[in-house]
Amino acid sequence: MIIWPKTGLSLQCYPIVPSHVSQPWDAADDYLIESLPTGNDITTLLINDRHGVLACHYPKAHSLISQFCVKQALLRNSSTNKIDISDTQLLTENQPLPNHITDVVIKIPKSVDLLQHWLELCRQQLPSETRYWLAGMSKHIPTSWLKWLQQHSHSYQQYPIARKARLMVITLGLQPLYKNQWFGYKTADEIQLLALPGVFSRNSMDIGSQFLLQHLPALSGQVVDLGCGNGLLALTCKKRYPACEVYATDDAWQAVESCRYNAKQSQLDINVLQGNGLSNIAIQPDWVLCNPPFHDGAKQLTDIAIMMFEQSAKKLKDDGRLLVIANRHLPYFKALSKRFQTVKTIASNSKFHVYLANTPKRQRLTD
Ligand SMILES: C[S@@+](CC[C@H](N)C(=O)[O-])C[C@H]1O[C@@H](n2cnc3c(N)ncnc32)[C@H](O)[C@@H]1O
Repeated sequence: MIIWPKTGLSLQCYPIVPSHVSQPWDAADDYLIESLPTGNDITTLLINDRHGVLACHYPKAHSLISQFCVKQALLRNSSTNKIDISDTQLLTENQPLPNHITDVVIKIPKSVDLLQHWLELCRQQLPSETRYWLAGMSKHIPTSWLKWLQQHSHSYQQYPIARKARLMVITLGLQPLYKNQWFGYKTADEIQLLALPGVFSRNSMDIGSQFLLQHLPALSGQVVDLGCGNGLLALTCKKRYPACEVYATDDAWQAVESCRYNAKQSQLDINVLQGNGLSNIAIQPDWVLCNPPFHDGAKQLTDIAIMMFEQSAKKLKDDGRLLVIANRHLPYFKALSKRFQTVKTIASNSKFHVYLANTPKRQRLTD
């Protein structure tokens, strides 16, 4: 737990990462709470409040929750601080927005597509006088995004940069912000993959995933694609090895929806679930396939990948296997060796290693 000085709240990131690695708020949150009008909580909608810190400061506000971990973070932080936030204040992407909202606060995400998607989602449902408070760290907001915002807003006010954070307040016009929300590509296995805004490698196949698929061993039994994105690994597995029972899971609503959509369109029968890592996978798989994230928002982190290896070692069958694609510079061989009896590098190129970790160690020293 770490105290947010401006508010006195005790907060923690979820998934949990040490506070020297990442803290749950940033200077953009400070800027927002200094600038937002007071007493407006009840008519405010919070979006991309990554660890629920703004929700704890504005306990009557509504929050749009797109990621499983965001909801967990918000519930944990509000409970630690004995703040009562009801379920009706937490909205999913496919729920209508309450019509009394006057102010929408968006912490600027890593992907501009996602920012455009949230603005358009609100624009379609809320009155044109709604104010949008957009805040983020300036190093993560390219000037091209600011230009886009200026061009697409009805009114645009840019605050001075403060403690390296940016704040803009805009209203939106009547024109849609974009035409098509589905983008994608076709794989070498002839699977059409489309994805919603914000999904990893939405327009073209990631070169790491491609390398993994070139070295995919023969799979059998129950297979989980952990951090499935558009479903590339899960659907390729099902297409190449139809006898497998395939599960796909991801933290992000956009990823889960895209994967479900692709499975349906391709008539490949797989199970798709939203969760933190393997938290909602009830089976003991034979295989876990994983192209782990090494960013959380704009921050580079290996903690989520390590958590995924840990969960895999716990959940896999006794002779289960975890297949991982990783950039060469990441310290995953050691992390896997702590958790599995054997770890082999089954393929390498100038950028990536493919690791095959076999047979979880059930008892071991922790890190
Ligand atoms: C590098 S992408 C891989 C996507 C896809 N498997 C591929 O190869 O194209 C990592 C994925 O992990 C998801 N992710 C991040 N944190 C997660 C978590 N805590 N639990 C489950 N999935 C997570 C991200 O949303 C993202 O879709």
